[in-house]
Amino acid sequence: VGEEDAEYLVSLIGSTPGFPKDGIIFRDFMPVLADARGLDILLRGFAAALPIDPSDFDTVAGLESRGFLFGPALASRFGKGFVAIRKAGKLPPPVFTESYDLEYGSASVEIEQNAIHPGERVLIVDDLIATGGTARAGADLIEKAGGHVAGFSFLMELDGLNGYAKLSEAPISTLIAMP
Ligand code: PRP
Ligand code: ADE
Repeated sequence: VGEEDAEYLVSLIGSTPGFPKDGIIFRDFMPVLADARGLDILLRGFAAALPIDPSDFDTVAGLESRGFLFGPALASRFGKGFVAIRKAGKLPPPVFTESYDLEYGSASVEIEQNAIHPGERVLIVDDLIATGGTARAGADLIEKAGGHVAGFSFLMELDGLNGYAKLSEAPISTLIAMP
């Protein structure tokens, strides 16, 4: 996105110090979705900033829950389908499971064992990357399910947490950085 659009996105991000824990500044992208211009910039921006050519991925995978809010719309723009990586206990078996740590806790995510066709190339999307723990677990699930991680796309990266370092296997795009 251009500088003006990036500044507009940043202006929409909510920031709440001390939530959900002391020492964390919670970055809330819901106002981007609520704003017609923000939502348009978000979808156009993801499409324009893709870390790989659209012909180099087959499917979009979104990380629960915020990756679900725009992942399907983005996939549809490129004529692709969408696969959900969910928090543990939500998907019917059989599933693959990965545990991970994130900025303010730990969790497990799952994918349905038959969600990915063998060798399918997957673009993983989410609203933000902080420590990278969630995206790392999502990427491991894609591999376990027989897919190949082709790229990662995020709206925001949180400075100073070095999340990219955990995702060295594929190109990454982010639209904005936040402290
Ligand atoms: C947030 C965010 C990312 C993750 C990033 O999700 O949407 O998925 O944290 O953190 P990390 O890079 O340190 O792993 P959260 O687990 O809070 O769940 P939610 O989307 O369901 O609110
Ligand atoms: N996920 C991990 N860290 C976060 C933060 N600071 N704000 C919102 N979501 C997050």
